[in-house]
Amino acid sequence: MSEQDIYEEHVLDHYEDPYHRGEFDNATHAHDGKNPLCGDVIHIDLKLSDDGRIEEAWFSGAGCVISQASASMLIEKIEGKTLEEVNQFSATDMLELFGPKLTPNRQKCCLLSWRVLQTAVHSPVGSASEETNGEEGDDDGNANFGGPSLSEES
Ligand code: FES
Repeated sequence: MSEQDIYEEHVLDHYEDPYHRGEFDNATHAHDGKNPLCGDVIHIDLKLSDDGRIEEAWFSGAGCVISQASASMLIEKIEGKTLEEVNQFSATDMLELFGPKLTPNRQKCCLLSWRVLQTAVHSPVGSASEETNGEEGDDDGNANFGGPSLSEES
């Protein structure tokens, strides 16, 4: 498939007019991560309610259309959902939500925000995990992710 097919209208819409992209001061949980292959970064802020629901979700980041548009789609999708529903939202679900078929490397770009979200729900703001990961920056992006390493196919 051509590169062009990736940039379907709904993908470009999310890239150009992202949902809840920006600073969010009331986060209870947050995390950020990086795709070491391409350097794209995503930060996710969540406000979790006492009964385990995502009351509000925001993201910020920098990078390609795929990583940024997919983050916008994900944030819009998970707002109002319970943590259980978020846990059940699989990588396959994320790729389906994005839409256009992607090569394995591009799938990692699309799953960046999804991975960050999985950790964010377990990372209270002010906790050690959230702070440490926030400072990782350029040195070792791999450490940000559980599961399959994003750098294994460089
Ligand atoms: Fe953007 Fe890979 S090129 S995350």
